Amino acid sequence: MTLPFHANGVSIDTRTLRPGDLFVALKTETGDGHAHVAQALAKGAAGALVHTQHDMPDDAKLLVVGDTLAGLTALGAFARERFQGAVVAVTGSVGKTTTKEMLRICLSACGVTHAAQASYNNHWGVPLTLARMPADADYAVIEIGMNHPGEIAPLSRLAGPDVAVVTSVESAHIGHLGSLDAIADEKASILQGVLQGGAAVLPRDNPRFARLTAQMQAGTRLLTFGAADVRACTEDADGSDVTADIAGTIVRFRMNAPGKHMISSALAALHAVAALGADVVRAAESLSGFAPVAGRGVRRTFLGGKATLLDESYNASAASVRAALAVLKMQKAQRRLAVLGDMRELGDHSAREHAALADAVGDSADMLYACGPWMKFLFDAVPPHCRGAHAEDSVALAPILAGAVREGDAVLVKGSLGSRMRVIVDALEAMA
Ligand SMILES: Nc1ncnc2c1ncn2[C@@H]1O[C@H](COP(=O)(O)OP(=O)(O)O)[C@@H](O)[C@H]1O
Ligand SMILES: [Mg+2]
Repeated sequence: MTLPFHANGVSIDTRTLRPGDLFVALKTETGDGHAHVAQALAKGAAGALVHTQHDMPDDAKLLVVGDTLAGLTALGAFARERFQGAVVAVTGSVGKTTTKEMLRICLSACGVTHAAQASYNNHWGVPLTLARMPADADYAVIEIGMNHPGEIAPLSRLAGPDVAVVTSVESAHIGHLGSLDAIADEKASILQGVLQGGAAVLPRDNPRFARLTAQMQAGTRLLTFGAADVRACTEDADGSDVTADIAGTIVRFRMNAPGKHMISSALAALHAVAALGADVVRAAESLSGFAPVAGRGVRRTFLGGKATLLDESYNASAASVRAALAVLKMQKAQRRLAVLGDMRELGDHSAREHAALADAVGDSADMLYACGPWMKFLFDAVPPHCRGAHAEDSVALAPILAGAVREGDAVLVKGSLGSRMRVIVDALEAMA
């Protein structure tokens, strides 16, 4: 087939489209790209992949397929087939994007590296990342997540990883899967896509480690990461200095992001580098260039530089709330405030998972400010002297908190995206 046009890139969003891109009109939860084809072409798209020609400009350069998601997936499969470099795929309950960004840095120190944008890890994010993969890059890092059970295996087969990483198995999204065993099995299904002779990088300290290894294909090499890899470590409020054994090579690195969870992601990333046979020493040195990603631990000051804000407004699960509270505890401050919004997608486990954080809050924070119906269970579970306030939602909590903060405070703001904790971050930032 001869195409009616030539494209240099792939886009699904007119806001970020670059001239020469193929615009793929996807129908997703948030809208139908077919409504934006005219605008994409006006912005210089080389052409558009569509499944309906209804209402298209007469002279539009169109590639008409039965279904644009299937079309994008086919483009991704083609790009994977053509690719000569090595692919790393990353899944897990928490830490996928963190590990993916660390791998982007580590592998960029070793060769030309392509990595997924943002958290593009679902049924369209993975094909899009693959479709965008330059044929001549040395490495590609693909994040694989799930909205529905059964999604990871086909996405992993599409990505065809040389190395598959499982960062963690935790109760995040347990509402969809029902049990930690089911979550472990779903994460382990990434192993089905690993190429012959490839490797798996798995979390040795996780209680479900054996359940993960049980799903390895014959011939897949196993590398594990965990606390025992660390030979020496000093942690401070800004980060950690780590000496670690990575598959027999001793490396030293500075992590400019505080917390043991960041070290865990770094160990996972470095083991993936080792599995690829790339230079782990160079990769470890490059990690000092990693900084927390927006909404996931970025630290700022407010009240004229006299108070500290930890912005964790991007998402929350029990594991990541605990990790963030541990970071709050390390902050130099007169008072530590935990400002928590509901953790979503926990189904029947919601009340229990929220209340179970009481110990961690008591250990790390002087006061809890909470919002959302599920956080009420946590609020009621902490000792009375820790109860700052509970409000219905973040909009109601913001002014209460703004009235309560003072110089010398360190404030952690965390919740699932749907809890809209960003409203509180904005309110505190306005108190510059
Ligand atoms: N190993 C870990 N254990 C606990 N929390 C973690 C871990 N890795 C990352 N986090 C935290 O979890 C949240 C989500 O991290 P992210 O890397 O975006 O995960 P994902 O892409 O899997 O959703 C952030 O607050 C991050 O700091
Ligand atoms: Mg992610």
